[in-house]
Amino acid sequence: MARVLAVVGSPRKGTTYKLVEAAAEAVRENGIEVELVCLAEYEIKPCWGCSEHCEEAGACRIRDGMEELYRKMREADALIIGTPTYFWTVSGTLKNFIDRSLPLYYTGGLKGKLGASISVSEESGQNEALNTISSFYQLHEMKEVGGISIVRAGPVSEAQLEAARALGKMVAERLRSG
Ligand SMILES: Cc1cc2nc3c(=O)[nH]c(=O)nc-3n(C[C@H](O)[C@H](O)[C@H](O)COP(=O)(O)O)c2cc1C
Repeated sequence: MARVLAVVGSPRKGTTYKLVEAAAEAVRENGIEVELVCLAEYEIKPCWGCSEHCEEAGACRIRDGMEELYRKMREADALIIGTPTYFWTVSGTLKNFIDRSLPLYYTGGLKGKLGASISVSEESGQNEALNTISSFYQLHEMKEVGGISIVRAGPVSEAQLEAARALGKMVAERLRSG
């Protein structure tokens, strides 16, 4: 059974959470198992930069919440990652997660999996944030399904939730068609 890991890269349960949740619900409604994780609920220390160890051991030396997240990522067939836009890029919370994915890069642990992205801003920089997630997928040799960047003016709108649902549906359909 295919499985999707939906990742909320915001330190709070705000707009990013609502959009990732909407995408995850659409995945579930389209017959695919999905788990939603909020990175803020895990201890994710910044990368120590010892990439030689990562490459040789195929594992990270740091013992923290990433251990569980490595397992969840390995078990998933697709990732949906959402981030708020912080200074025209992803949140620090998500960037730590991306940096700490280095052991999976060296072991090809994400290769061939599907990836979809969501970024949220108030004004500008949402495309740059989306590009950062896209680069993460490309470097891991994943297959990108699509991405949506949302500029919010006030509370999240029904149209924005609908765009997130369409993205989730697209991921589920790609998984079902193999
Ligand atoms: C540290 C920080 C940096 C931000 N930088 C930007 C930015 O570069 N461009 C922008 O439009 N909004 C920026 N914002 C606003 C957030 O992107 C926006 O409020 C977003 O919707 C927050 O998502 P959330 O509700 O999921 O936390 C920033 C907010 C914070 C806290």
